Amino acid sequence: MESLSCFLLAMALLVAILLLSKFLTNHQQSLLPGPKPWPIIGNLNLIGPLPHQSLHELAKQYGELMQLKFGLLTVVVASSSEMAKQFLKTHDQVFASRPVTAAGKYTTYNYCNVTWAPYGPYWRQGRKIYLTELFSSKRLDSYEYIRVEERRELISRLHALSGTLVTLKDHLSRTTLSIVSRIVLGKKYFSEPEARQTEVVKLEEFQEMLDELFLLNGVLNIGDWIPWIDFLDLQGYVKRMKALSKKLNRFYDHVIDEHQARRQAAGKDFVAKDMVDLLLELADDPNLEVKINSDGIKGFMQDLVAGGTDTSATTVEWAMSELMKQPHLIKKATEELDKVIGRDRWVEERDFPQLPYLAAILKETMRLHPVAVLLAPHAALEDCKVAGYDIYKGTTVFINVWSIGRDPQIWEDPEKFMPERFLGKVTDVKGQHFELLPFGSGRRMCPGYTLALKMMGSSLANLLHGFNWKLPDNMEIEDISMDEVYGLATPRKFPLVAITEPRLPLHLYQ
Ligand code: HEM
Repeated sequence: MESLSCFLLAMALLVAILLLSKFLTNHQQSLLPGPKPWPIIGNLNLIGPLPHQSLHELAKQYGELMQLKFGLLTVVVASSSEMAKQFLKTHDQVFASRPVTAAGKYTTYNYCNVTWAPYGPYWRQGRKIYLTELFSSKRLDSYEYIRVEERRELISRLHALSGTLVTLKDHLSRTTLSIVSRIVLGKKYFSEPEARQTEVVKLEEFQEMLDELFLLNGVLNIGDWIPWIDFLDLQGYVKRMKALSKKLNRFYDHVIDEHQARRQAAGKDFVAKDMVDLLLELADDPNLEVKINSDGIKGFMQDLVAGGTDTSATTVEWAMSELMKQPHLIKKATEELDKVIGRDRWVEERDFPQLPYLAAILKETMRLHPVAVLLAPHAALEDCKVAGYDIYKGTTVFINVWSIGRDPQIWEDPEKFMPERFLGKVTDVKGQHFELLPFGSGRRMCPGYTLALKMMGSSLANLLHGFNWKLPDNMEIEDISMDEVYGLATPRKFPLVAITEPRLPLHLYQ
């Protein structure tokens, strides 16, 4: 009897060892490469102030798909076009959620917007509203007059400053902010610097709030990665998020109150004129799949105003910086403009298809300077095998598009700014070509990309068509720094400052 129990025990042990070793072998086979993590901090010690560049260097060692620990949480980074395709196309649905972050909680009304909302009915409904009500080609065409008016303003402001030092980004942001505010909120809602303060905020205040929002939405907040020290707020980011949220909330309350008052005054005859009107109508709709409350309306306003402003302005500022480093490219661009447009009018959106060199400049800019260098983080909704590796539910995924834009296997001489590489090529930025993904791809792809392309095309074309560009007297081409600052958008560290002089007959600037 005793020997039988010993035998059974030995057999049970053997089976357990066999099962364990099989489990361990399987597990090891599917473990992603990556640096060995430290307790508690994981690999955060390897991430510098420009995380996309740190990850780019690490990918050279660990490959196109690697796993790290940010604090206690697992992060997977895709650094090649093939791996980007795996996450954004092959397994798009599994990776269509967002991680939980303090930024989502404190700056977007507890995930009540589209950008940070987890995958699900609320997010799906929000995206559908954007795509049908705002970004359909009919709706975008109906707002062309706004883009034209704001372009005229930009040109006349720059003309008035001819011969003086101009910080280009300030003017570009003002133009995109004005366009998006007018489309979404119905008017600008900020007082122009030249005018008396009649609105609830001044332009500079509003721009500062949006800059802070972008920065705080992109930072690596330690509490997100080591949740049990979250309450300490070691970097002070959560405090800043709460302060910002209060300011933004006051602004959104004011916008909603004004819209409600107009709606009540008009009674039954009321017709929705802008996105806020429409959202207020939808909030009263009992048939809506998921109810939208006032936090939702504010979250949506913010998505659009913030998402639409700095991104486009930053891209055009990068484009002008690259061009000013190589003046012969400006010459090529203006030759195209002179030939197609002539010198007696401005460039309109309908001219874009006839301006392939301009399109190539924008693509080349977005290759080297994608504003969302790691896209927005994606999160795995369930366990999934990607390229033979196991990725577990809850893992955060970053797609390093900055790295993909510099992949020597795809791009010849990748560090060189060379718009010609796109001439005669079908590669575009609409999420079908995984080597060029400034707007992402798949379910979470930027819904505003068509508007962005129109705003950027029009600003860049007319800046080149309307002005000659010179550096300040004490500056040489080599002095134009290409350093970046990391955030949800990655702008220039040192704003581009230049001197303009008019290129076209003077009556066109009036
Ligand atoms: C150059 C301009 C722009 C760039 C480079 C850009 C880029 C991006 C990127 C990379 C994403 C995340 C994609 C992902 O998670 O995989 C995104 C999302 C988003 N963008 Fe843009 N964007 C731009 C302009 C705009 C504009 C003009 C708007 C609206 C007015 C906008 C609204 C949004 C929204 C709402 C999302 C969240 C989508 C979601 O999570 O489902 N963006 N954008």
